[in-house]
Amino acid sequence: MASTLKDKVVLITGAARGIGMGIAECFVAEGARVIVTDLSQELIDAIDSDQIIGMVGDAANQYEMKELIAQVVAHYGRLDVLVNNAGIGGPTADFSEMATDSAVSNMSDASWDEQLVANLRTAFSSSAAAISHLQSGGSIINIASIAALGPTTTLPAYGAAKAGVVHLTTTLAMELAPRGIRVNCICPGLLWTRAWEILTTNMKNKQPELANMSNREVFEMVVADATPLGGEQTPEDIGNLAVFYASDKARMITGQVVAVDGGISVK
Ligand SMILES: NC(=O)c1ccc[n+]([C@@H]2O[C@H](COP(=O)([O-])OP(=O)(O)OC[C@H]3O[C@@H](n4cnc5c(N)ncnc54)[C@H](O)[C@@H]3O)[C@@H](O)[C@H]2O)c1
Repeated sequence: MASTLKDKVVLITGAARGIGMGIAECFVAEGARVIVTDLSQELIDAIDSDQIIGMVGDAANQYEMKELIAQVVAHYGRLDVLVNNAGIGGPTADFSEMATDSAVSNMSDASWDEQLVANLRTAFSSSAAAISHLQSGGSIINIASIAALGPTTTLPAYGAAKAGVVHLTTTLAMELAPRGIRVNCICPGLLWTRAWEILTTNMKNKQPELANMSNREVFEMVVADATPLGGEQTPEDIGNLAVFYASDKARMITGQVVAVDGGISVK
């Protein structure tokens, strides 16, 4: 039987690389028409797929996203799925919260705001821009983090932003349910992308005993220590759930938050 996502139009923010690109590939495998956005033309030009269309747009800018989505709808005639994936650290991921020893007591207002814009306003602005184009049967999928699910002492603003994404998910699920549009959330655990390159550098700077390890080895140590199922997660793991959420098989699922984290959040 053909996938219920065949020919559906799927827009994924912040997806020229990392988890977003993995999600995009999962939707392509279902026969969907996939558009990814990211912050620069350079990132879009580096996309190595003739089945994924790239567009430049800041997911935290409602005006830009309205223009971008209007172009998508003018071209494809519809928008079925929005995946709010953009986040972590903007263009460089070197936000002070990720690169230094962050705690609420030593964080600046500017550092807090950076994280809230990059990791919460992105989901708000892109959703606000997309909502009028979605129809019954369509859905929004928000990518939060296990950092949303409990205290996050080393990344407090990131954790608060992602907890906001979880809350936005349930709020939007209620706002859009009367129109038959579902809204769900995924909380990824530990994935080897750009953010973890920065975080492991920070760990090595702070802990001299890690100095002789490569960043990848430090990440593997973190994963082994934290993960009951004993392995890191992949972008495909996240994409598989996103595809399920968007499909008709999930037609009665809305406002839900599922961690794809090898059991970290229930440990
Ligand atoms: N890597 C992990 O372990 C992990 C864990 C939990 C959650 N997440 C979440 O998954 C999502 C993807 O993260 P990733 O690990 O693939 O990171 P990544 O840095 O590899 O990819 C994120 C992409 O988003 C883009 N981006 C950032 N801000 C943007 C904006 N305002 N508009 C458009 N694009 C923007 C970046 O340029 C980058 O290409 C993020 O929301 C992140 O918080 C990641």
